[in-house]
Amino acid sequence: MQNDIERVLINRGAIADRVRALADEITQDLCGSAASLPAPSPEQDAPQPARITLVPILTGSLIFVSDLIRHLPIQMQIHPVSISSYPGTATTSQGPKVCGDIDTLPDSLEGADVLVIDDILDSGNTLSLVTQLLEQRQPRSVRTCVMLRKQRLQAMSYPIDYVGFDIPDEFVVGYGLDYNGYYRNLPDIVTLRPEILGLKTAT
Ligand code: IMP
Ligand code: MG
Repeated sequence: MQNDIERVLINRGAIADRVRALADEITQDLCGSAASLPAPSPEQDAPQPARITLVPILTGSLIFVSDLIRHLPIQMQIHPVSISSYPGTATTSQGPKVCGDIDTLPDSLEGADVLVIDDILDSGNTLSLVTQLLEQRQPRSVRTCVMLRKQRLQAMSYPIDYVGFDIPDEFVVGYGLDYNGYYRNLPDIVTLRPEILGLKTAT
């Protein structure tokens, strides 16, 4: 597996630092918005602590989400959804498809503050599909968070609340991202050698 790596784009130490900083930012925003609600009268109960409904997009966000949530000291429920856009050996999007059913999502999210989490923002089609599914359930707010964003027009112009890193417009694996189902367990975010991706190398 190590021999298939072309170069390390982001190493595990930088990932860990950024995940912690992102979690602090999210906590600040959510606790800040709870604090900005009207002050309760003395006879009312104390203000509710911030709570969120997390919607991780599987499988790619698996590792990012598991690291992120351990730095979020907030009450949360987790409702993952499975979406696939790069089936098999595809290295360009084939369009996002919901895998299986979406029974993991409650029928109503009325009043909930939702945070959707994905591994990488490329065309924005995946986040847009999931956001639509959520909006039908009438949440109070929907925020979006990705670990990586590709530096291409469609991704850079997509509205998003939290981004870990902007990366070159290249196919990457590791830290949850896969090629043909493999390489998710690499701790760093890396590119693969062109011959592994079935691409012709210059002669
Ligand atoms: P989008 O729908 O085009 O924004 O693509 C997002 C989805 O495509 C992500 O959830 C990933 O699963 C997948 N994806 C996009 N770029 C890459 C990549 O470079 N490596 C692995 N998966 C990717
Ligand atoms: Mg994905």
